[in-house]
Amino acid sequence: MKAIVCEKRGVMKLEEIEPPAVPDDGVLVRMHASSVNPVDLFPLSGAGRLMRKLARKPKRDGMGTDFAGIVQAVGKDVTRFRPGDEVFGGEHGSFAEYICLSESEALARKPANVSFEKAGCVAVAALTALQAIRDHGHVKPGQKVLINGASGGVGTFAVQVARALGAEVTAVCSPRNVDAVRSLGAQRVIDYTQQDFTKSGERYDALIDIAGSRSLSECRRVLQPGAIFVLVGAAAIQHTSEMKAFGHIIGTRLGSMRGRQKVVFFIAKLTQKDMEAIAELMANGKVASVIDRRYTLDQLDEAFAYFNEGHAKGKIAIELMRPEPAYEAAGAPQERVTA
Ligand SMILES: NC(=O)c1ccc[n+]([C@@H]2O[C@H](COP(=O)([O-])OP(=O)(O)OC[C@H]3O[C@@H](n4cnc5c(N)ncnc54)[C@H](OP(=O)(O)O)[C@@H]3O)[C@@H](O)[C@H]2O)c1
Repeated sequence: MKAIVCEKRGVMKLEEIEPPAVPDDGVLVRMHASSVNPVDLFPLSGAGRLMRKLARKPKRDGMGTDFAGIVQAVGKDVTRFRPGDEVFGGEHGSFAEYICLSESEALARKPANVSFEKAGCVAVAALTALQAIRDHGHVKPGQKVLINGASGGVGTFAVQVARALGAEVTAVCSPRNVDAVRSLGAQRVIDYTQQDFTKSGERYDALIDIAGSRSLSECRRVLQPGAIFVLVGAAAIQHTSEMKAFGHIIGTRLGSMRGRQKVVFFIAKLTQKDMEAIAELMANGKVASVIDRRYTLDQLDEAFAYFNEGHAKGKIAIELMRPEPAYEAAGAPQERVTA
């Protein structure tokens, strides 16, 4: 099968590799769509190469995480999925024609009203947003939440999840994304080129920081005494310097030792339970993927270059199998691989 692999020296290639074997608890998925996340670019970076070396990872490793596709085969112990099921999820190595994962991993049925393309943009960004707001921010209906970095992959899901949980949302983004973020349900949108949110008179119950553009001490000015600050990432810095982004995260952790408000940094977990929770929100029309651009697997370099500019409006979709124009209406997958 065709797959994108990352070689030891941090170079990615489209190669012909052996398709995965299907263990007794395994589900083999024929891929239709995926998307780009920061974690997918990490193996290509200097820090990523070093980590691979220290972790003694194989010389060639798969790439990609999000996926949506159709179950092709299942192991003999599998009870939850059958060939033909339309599924989506997250698993390392998704920039490929097939992926195989255990039926208990981050795999869920794709809602019928959601396209493969949109479902392929979900796992990492939506589960990060869900866990940031529900599990770490403990956001309750009626609470005031500020989302800094609201227009990117995680941010567009975060605005929708916070609204679905009944929060009052203030979103921070650049001027070109103000209307798009408002259309996702944010009651107030701050253009960071015009206004410094850390100097507003508002006080928030939770601040979800995806951009990492301001220090913790600056953000504390707009937090209620018992508020929670959730550090998701440092997108505003990461796209220019990975080391500075790490520095921002470490600085925030050190800063969290003082002050009254709770500060949390977490790494999202890809779980079946949360894939199902997101599937339900999508089926009910409360959450949807926002797609900025789409690329094919052999255009991955271009997709990564655009992502690295740091201003994608929502997600960058990767097409792994080209649907016929009438696909959405007909609901039938075509066995044609674009790679
Ligand atoms: N903790 C975890 O488990 C976890 C999981 C996934 C991702 N992350 C991290 O979360 C961050 C975001 O990931 P992503 O996939 O959403 O990236 P992304 O799609 O590239 O989004 C980045 C967004 O940051 C916004 N931004 C840039 N400068 C800003 C500023 N000064 N103020 C406010 N917003 C600004 C941009 O919006 P404009 O174009 O409007 O400026 C852009 O839309 C990354 O650092 C990533 O590593 C963490």
